[in-house]
Amino acid sequence: MNYKVKDLALAEGGMLKIEWAEARMPVLMALRRKYQETRPLEGMRIAGCLHVTKETAVLIRTLRAAGAEISWSGCNPLSTQDDIAAALAADGVSIYAWHGLDNDQYYWCIDRTLDFKPTLTLDDGADLIMRVHTRYPELAAGVLGGTEETTTGVHRLRKMAADGALRYPVLAINDAETKWDFDNVYGTGQSSLDGILRATSVLLAGKVFVAAGYGHCGRGVAMRARGMGARVVVTEVKPTAALKAVLEGFQVLPMDEAARIGDIFITQTGIRDILVRRHFESMKDGAILCNTGHFDCEINIPELKALARGVRTIRQSCEEFTLADGRRVYLLGQGRLINLAAAEGHPSEVMDMSFANQFLGMIRMAREGRNLGPAVYDIPSEQDQELAGTKLGTMGVSIDTLTAEQIHYADAYTEGT
Ligand SMILES: NC(=O)c1ccc[n+]([C@@H]2O[C@H](COP(=O)([O-])OP(=O)(O)OC[C@H]3O[C@@H](n4cnc5c(N)ncnc54)[C@H](O)[C@@H]3O)[C@@H](O)[C@H]2O)c1
Repeated sequence: MNYKVKDLALAEGGMLKIEWAEARMPVLMALRRKYQETRPLEGMRIAGCLHVTKETAVLIRTLRAAGAEISWSGCNPLSTQDDIAAALAADGVSIYAWHGLDNDQYYWCIDRTLDFKPTLTLDDGADLIMRVHTRYPELAAGVLGGTEETTTGVHRLRKMAADGALRYPVLAINDAETKWDFDNVYGTGQSSLDGILRATSVLLAGKVFVAAGYGHCGRGVAMRARGMGARVVVTEVKPTAALKAVLEGFQVLPMDEAARIGDIFITQTGIRDILVRRHFESMKDGAILCNTGHFDCEINIPELKALARGVRTIRQSCEEFTLADGRRVYLLGQGRLINLAAAEGHPSEVMDMSFANQFLGMIRMAREGRNLGPAVYDIPSEQDQELAGTKLGTMGVSIDTLTAEQIHYADAYTEGT
């Protein structure tokens, strides 16, 4: 058997969701139609480690249509949707993923996807590629290249490349404009609030909503929380990011001050220990905490547990920690990405462009990987413009084009006042 999922009986419902997503991912579906004829991924074995959602299923089906053999795992213990994993397994995809993995099971699943000795790797967070480099270095020689989906993964890989530790080329999908400026902003913005609401059903209007980090994800989250009527407070360490938040009209405070006034806290920094013991100690009774950054280290959960005299699960994805003085603090989704732990991840419409970049990235690595040195490469900006243009077209939006005179003007430097 080339899969392990929670329950194959969930496959039918999962396939309906995949169909729903396919109807909302026109850019990726156009690429599927284009490349299923020429099958540029024929002979490629792709090991993928990325949240198992309906949108990921559309990517997997597109990679297969282009000729690739696939073996897949989730990239987070709580982000697999079991009905989607079942649908993929029933469709013949090799997949090792279920919701609620422990750490050993998580790496067992990744290891199984390496059994077929991949020629390409596709990561979200860089756990798979790290596994190749640390546990199975002999496999690296057979890998033409890889891709990386998220900010934290790209960050890890750039550090690895700078250390001379990276063994094969990787494309930074995250850093494409059609990914970072859309998926992380509008995708994370909407789906993180979706996760908070599914886990709590609280009214956002009037709440003090503390967003830690005002990068791409933080900007989206803050914007959407304000749209729901929350009073948004931003915390930052980077002066330009903090200044942008101030000029957008948000209150900016150090976390030590924000901790005392917040009703809802969300972290999206990619850095550890954003909320720690002294913050928990100063929070209001009823404070709600969650994270939407890649790893579950942004809220120091061991310190929260150490402070608690009692913990109970009060509703799905919502644990109540009672502190020594009787105050209650609520942790959502075990501190893992709230949009995937408690909701369905980003909407299909925005993953359309992210996964179009992934798909084209895989084709590029299959073609050119062996000629590229072991480094982290960017997506060409022409690809961004082409994908955005296609997306606009599918939305029925037309834009202007430069005239010959305007192109000349843009290229000249002599024309002034
Ligand atoms: N939930 C999801 O589905 C999802 C989607 C995309 C990205 N991510 C993850 O979210 C995280 C953020 O991604 P991004 O694209 O917004 O990154 P980014 O680099 O654009 O923004 C991160 C921001 O956090 C700030 N920051 C760093 N340390 C801080 C601290 N101690 N206190 C306050 N702010 C701090 C940085 O200055 C920066 O402005 C990453 O871990 C990324 O992988 C999650």
